[in-house]
Amino acid sequence: MEKTYVMIKPDGVQRNLTGEIINRFEKKGLKLTAMKFLRLSPEQAEAHYQEHVGKKFYDGLISFITSGPVVAMVWEGENAVSAARKLMGSTNPAEADPASIRGMYGLDLGRNIIHGADSVESARREIAIYFQTGELISYEKNIDQWIY
Ligand code: TYD
Ligand code: MG
Repeated sequence: MEKTYVMIKPDGVQRNLTGEIINRFEKKGLKLTAMKFLRLSPEQAEAHYQEHVGKKFYDGLISFITSGPVVAMVWEGENAVSAARKLMGSTNPAEADPASIRGMYGLDLGRNIIHGADSVESARREIAIYFQTGELISYEKNIDQWIY
């Protein structure tokens, strides 16, 4: 089953959106496979956002993402990567679908509440930054048969 990496950013944690976000992912039918509450080190933040090195928003992004604790999660399900991106909404909250997490709770491009991997390959790379293989839990849920 496809896995994706999702992270509630420091603004989402500070604004008490953690429960709401997890609730939406659970109700969508995605299955929680791993979860950690942590504050990113500069090294983790740089590894996470290596594709953005050199862009004008990069320094602000690194300082924001390391400014407070985050919730790091792995969610699993059919087309989990795109399902998560749809729940989140597009990058700029001002343009995101208002029913999405970013569209409903955000106003500012830099403070967009949540991160989600943009491809299966990115998900694999990002999961490895935050989790050891043994920390991903594979288990049956008795509602799976009502989702698929
Ligand atoms: P990006 O990977 O393009 O977006 P997404 O999070 O939807 O995959 O950019 C990473 C983060 O960088 C984005 O969530 C918010 C921030 N950002 C800016 O602050 N300014 C910008 O112009 C862009 C494109 C992103
Ligand atoms: Mg991205």
